[in-house]
Amino acid sequence: MTASKSTLITNIGELMTQDPARGAGSVLRDAAVVIEGERISWIGPAGQAPQTDEMYDAEGRALLPGWVDSHTHLVFAGDRTAEFEARMAGESYAAGGIAVTTGATRAADDFDLTRLLMGRVAEAVAGGTTYLETKTGYGLDVEHEARSARIASTVADQVTYLGAHLVPDGMDADAYTELVCGEMLEAVRPYVQWADVFCERGAFNEEQSRRVLAACRDAGLGLRVHGNQLGEGPGVQLAVEFGAASVDHVNYLADTDVKALADSWSGWDRAAGTGERGTVATCLPACDLSTRQPLAPGRQLLDAGVEIALASNCNPGTSYTSSMNYCVTTAVLQMGLSVQEAVRAATFAGALALGKHVGADVDGQRAVGSIAVGHRADLHLLNAPSATHLAYRPGMPLTAAVWRAGVQVR
Ligand code: NIG
Repeated sequence: MTASKSTLITNIGELMTQDPARGAGSVLRDAAVVIEGERISWIGPAGQAPQTDEMYDAEGRALLPGWVDSHTHLVFAGDRTAEFEARMAGESYAAGGIAVTTGATRAADDFDLTRLLMGRVAEAVAGGTTYLETKTGYGLDVEHEARSARIASTVADQVTYLGAHLVPDGMDADAYTELVCGEMLEAVRPYVQWADVFCERGAFNEEQSRRVLAACRDAGLGLRVHGNQLGEGPGVQLAVEFGAASVDHVNYLADTDVKALADSWSGWDRAAGTGERGTVATCLPACDLSTRQPLAPGRQLLDAGVEIALASNCNPGTSYTSSMNYCVTTAVLQMGLSVQEAVRAATFAGALALGKHVGADVDGQRAVGSIAVGHRADLHLLNAPSATHLAYRPGMPLTAAVWRAGVQVR
C-alpha cells in the first residue's frame, strides 16, 4: 500500500480553526497545517512543521474550514425567474411555486437532473462549500421522490427526504401524508439519512407534520423541520419535542419558541462545544432577502444560548444562490453577528446540524466544520488576510483555494 501524499500549507495569515477545544486560541497566527490523504494530520507553529511531500504557500492569506451548507434543495429542473420578478414587484412568497418546479423536475430525464445537480454542487464548491446536504421535495410522488433521493445520494454528502414539501395539486392532504409516511418513505429509505417536513400554513399542519416526523423517526431517519418561515406556528416546538437536529428558517418566533430552543441546549457547553446537544436553529439569510421576509433573529437566538447555523437554502423559489460567503456577510452586516460567530455558524454549527461535528462519528466518516487533527481536510483559503474581509469587502471574490477531503478542488 502506498503512503498518502502529504501537503504543508504554510505562510497562513490567520488560521481560524473553529475548533472549540482550542478555546480563545482558536484563531492562530504563524501557524501551518498538514494534509495527509483526506485528513488533517498536523497543526502547529510554522517553524516546527514536519517534512512533507509538497508545500503550499498561502501568501499571508486567511485559512478557514470549508463551509458546511446544511440546507439546500438542489435536485430540480426548470426556472422561476417570473415568480421572482413578480415578488420584486410586490407579490409575497407563497409556497405554490413548488408545484411549478415539481412539474419541470418530473419532466427532466435522469441524465439532465444529474447534470443540473452536479453543476450546482460545483458552483457551491467553487464558493468554498466543502460539505453539503441536499433534499428531495420536487418529486412529490413515489417514483420521483425515490429518483430524486437516488440521484442526490450520488453527489451530495448527505440527503434529506422532503416528500412532505407540498401537497400535490388535486390530492387530499391526509391521503398524501399517508403516502409520505408509507410507500414513499420505503422507496427513498435506502438513499437518505434525514427527513424533513414543511410545517407551515399552506403546507403541512401540526397533526400531519407530527405523523411525518414520527414515521420517519421510526424508520431510523434523523429529523429536521422547515418551521416558522412565513408566520408563527408549531414548527419550532415540534422540532424540539422530536429532538430534531435542526429547525430551519425560524423567521417568526414567539418567546416560547426561543425558550424551547434555548432549553434544548441547556446541557451544552457552547465554549467547549461539548455536552448534550439540542436543536440547531438554522438561519437562511439569502432566502430572507430574496423573499423580503424579516431576517431570522440570529442575534437573539445566540444570546439565548441557542446554536445557530447559517445555510444557503439554494433552491429555485426562495434563494437561488449557494454562496455561503454572501450568507456570512449578511449575517454580520444585517443580523448583528460578529465575524467569528458567523463563520462558526457556517462551519462548526452547520456540522452540528448534520451530526458531523467534533466527536461525531457518522458511518465511520470524519468530522467536518472545524480544522483539527483527524478531521476531514476541508479547507477554504480566502483572498484576504483575515476572515473580517468577508464582511468588510462584501460581494468581492474572496475564495482563493478550496480543499475537499484533502483534494484541492479550486
Ligand atoms: O426552504 N419553504 C419551503 N421550501 C423552500 C422553498 C421551495 C420553493 O419555493 O421552491 C425553502 O424556502
